[in-house]
Amino acid sequence: MNNKIIVLSNGLLGSTVFHYLSYKYGADKVRQVMSKYPSDEFQREIEYFDKKGNVIINAAGAILQRTDKFGINYEIPHYLISVLKHARIIHPSSSCVFSGLKLSSYSKEDRMDSTTPYGLSKARGDALILEKNDPRFKIVRTSIIGDDVDKKSFLGWVTSQPLNATINGYIYEIFGGVTTLTWAKIADDMIHRWEAYDILTHVSCKYPLSKYDLINDIKKVYGRQDIKVLVDSRVKLDKSLVPDIVTDDIYDQLIEFRDFYKKLEKGFYE
Ligand SMILES: NC(=O)c1ccc[n+]([C@@H]2O[C@H](COP(=O)([O-])OP(=O)(O)OC[C@H]3O[C@@H](n4cnc5c(N)ncnc54)[C@H](OP(=O)(O)O)[C@@H]3O)[C@@H](O)[C@H]2O)c1
Repeated sequence: MNNKIIVLSNGLLGSTVFHYLSYKYGADKVRQVMSKYPSDEFQREIEYFDKKGNVIINAAGAILQRTDKFGINYEIPHYLISVLKHARIIHPSSSCVFSGLKLSSYSKEDRMDSTTPYGLSKARGDALILEKNDPRFKIVRTSIIGDDVDKKSFLGWVTSQPLNATINGYIYEIFGGVTTLTWAKIADDMIHRWEAYDILTHVSCKYPLSKYDLINDIKKVYGRQDIKVLVDSRVKLDKSLVPDIVTDDIYDQLIEFRDFYKKLEKGFYE
């Protein structure tokens, strides 16, 4: 591959995308932009990488686990739309653009009805890109599960529980997302078959499941059968999506994700 892939940031999503694509294409083909929007350095780097054939993966964003200021979720897409002349862009959206109150899967035609500050910020980012209708932009909309250094993510929260912990699992909150590794593979396929994808792509795992069942899958995959999960029926939300892409079921994805990081720790792609 002659062109470069540029990953913005190294958070939960950005770090896996960077590791997977570096492993696949070699470190010289994949670059990370670690500077922060709206600094001069960030703008300089974006302009430098704005070359025909390059693909920018916008994994920079603000999520609930880390902040209550979500402006960059639409400011960065707005900035990229305004300045980029040559590069292509893959933008991660979220099933949180929907409220989940319909209690059945959301299609691409459904109105983005979230009322939370995070959901509204993600919906505004999507709307900007969809309005622009520029074939150089692709939106991947799903939920994601991955690991993070400070264990604030869902997976990190479960796997970092103390021995014999008791936690609640929502039996009526549905998860239909993918691991960050699966997300990286979809982005990779998108890069190579750009024209085959719509501007907006809905992604779902095979067999969306309750958060209660998701915790039990994580327990099995990460050898944490000591954790006790209580059925909690207080929350009723379904943000699953009517998918364009159906991936493996989440249990198989978690095994693949776990094994990928085990190998990565041993430096297998170097
Ligand atoms: N997590 C999910 O469940 C989920 C689901 C669907 C879609 N997404 C989307 O995926 C994207 C990445 O989310 P994530 O889960 O990877 O979150 P994350 O782990 O918090 O990573 C976000 C990254 O963005 C960086 N960042 C924050 N402010 C920035 C700025 N002003 N300029 C440049 N970079 C900045 C952060 O850097 P610092 O750590 O240094 O602040 C961090 O590396 C977001 O757009 C999110 O909405 C996430």
